[in-house]
Amino acid sequence: MNNDYAELTINGKSYAFPIVEGTEGEKAIDISDLRKKTGYITLDPGFVNTGSCKSEITFIDGEKGILRYRGIPIEDLVEECSFVETAFLLLHGKLPDQEEYKRFSDILNESSLLHENMHLFFDRFPQSSHPMHILSTMINALSTFYRHVDSESVEGDIFKSSAFLISVFRTIAAFSYKKSIGEPIVYPRHDLPFCANFLNMMFDSPVKPYVIRDQIVSVLNKLLIIHADHEQNCSTTAVRVIGSAQVNLYATISAGVNALSGPLHGGANQAVIDMLMQIKNGGKDISKFIDKAKDKDDSCKLMGFGHRVYKSFDPRAKILKEECHKLLNIIGVNDDLLEIALKLEEIALKDDYFISRNLYPNVDFYSGIIYKAIGIPVNMFTVMFAIARLPGWIAHWKEMVDSEDRKIARPRQIYVGYTKRPILRD
Ligand code: ACO
Repeated sequence: MNNDYAELTINGKSYAFPIVEGTEGEKAIDISDLRKKTGYITLDPGFVNTGSCKSEITFIDGEKGILRYRGIPIEDLVEECSFVETAFLLLHGKLPDQEEYKRFSDILNESSLLHENMHLFFDRFPQSSHPMHILSTMINALSTFYRHVDSESVEGDIFKSSAFLISVFRTIAAFSYKKSIGEPIVYPRHDLPFCANFLNMMFDSPVKPYVIRDQIVSVLNKLLIIHADHEQNCSTTAVRVIGSAQVNLYATISAGVNALSGPLHGGANQAVIDMLMQIKNGGKDISKFIDKAKDKDDSCKLMGFGHRVYKSFDPRAKILKEECHKLLNIIGVNDDLLEIALKLEEIALKDDYFISRNLYPNVDFYSGIIYKAIGIPVNMFTVMFAIARLPGWIAHWKEMVDSEDRKIARPRQIYVGYTKRPILRD
């Protein structure tokens, strides 16, 4: 093996495969003609060793705690940019200039209303429906009301259809919440920026006007930026795979929403609140709960601690930790669960078990607490994640559609079922 190729020997015969190197030094063996050359395929459940594409969008280094969108560190983006600018950056590879920003914002404003006939759909969902299932259904239905997407999203104005989707997605999310609590929907307003507009649609009511607070708008912007992309995670991979069949953008994104709705993916911050509830209902005995989490014979884990990719620290959690403490200082902690969360954090951060295993509170721990503190109901947490992740999904979909080596995704398998057998009835 040398720097340019990898050698594979099967039954004494050698084959060479090129080495591909990314701009940050990550290396891969290009096995795209492995089957053609050797008759073999690779077996990699969960695709944990498989690079499914080359991408210019997001770089993560889990060992060093690095996350960058289009080369820009997440720490700089939360300091200097809004979610809308970050969305533009992910979609178009650069931050918008003044003219681009105006055009993008104008489309966001013009598209914020949902077709009135789509409002009827909300009335037909059972009251107990999870907002993520309502969201994915509504996003799928968009392509029946807004037919332009079929042509635009494949060869035409992706600029327009992606901005439209980012705007209307937020409206649908807020409407589904209002419907779930039986309150009248609040229409979007052109005079409000993206995050303030969303908060107003969520919390304003005819009997109690919502007062928009700058600190809450600011923390929401940061939360959305932090979750806007995370390279080839489960929902993004779903978007790329489904989009590869030339499914229109909105139907593709609906699949991403469904993938995110799974508890192993988007549900972790909800699990944090469930854990805090459990501690509260168990008499607020935090030390006892921590002992349970440390016990090898107990399957209990401290939800919101540890991360598969970030092994030293999660850069997003570092930002949110500061934001969370700042926010709670400003708005005050008048909630048992938030109090438990802060005590839990304090105790776990001093505990050798967690220190020695590099187990720190992750992004979900703090995002759960912040969402709770700003009044977002727990069953909307995953919807918030989806609003944030949407620009990332669209950026990956667009990159896949534009790529020269675009192919319909079609993995192979190793069949381990019956060999040929006769019909048997017994
Ligand atoms: N509570 C208690 N112990 C833990 C926790 C935890 N949250 N996380 C890991 N450990 C322990 C493991 O038992 C293991 O102990 P050992 O070395 O004595 O056997 C050690 O820490 C290493 O853990 P692994 O399981 O090898 O770590 P892995 O990378 O496989 O798992 C994961 C990471 C799945 C995130 C895990 O930490 C976990 O389940 N955390 C709680 C759930 C959670 O918060 N998920 C959200 C992750 S963030 C996100 O998805 C955006």
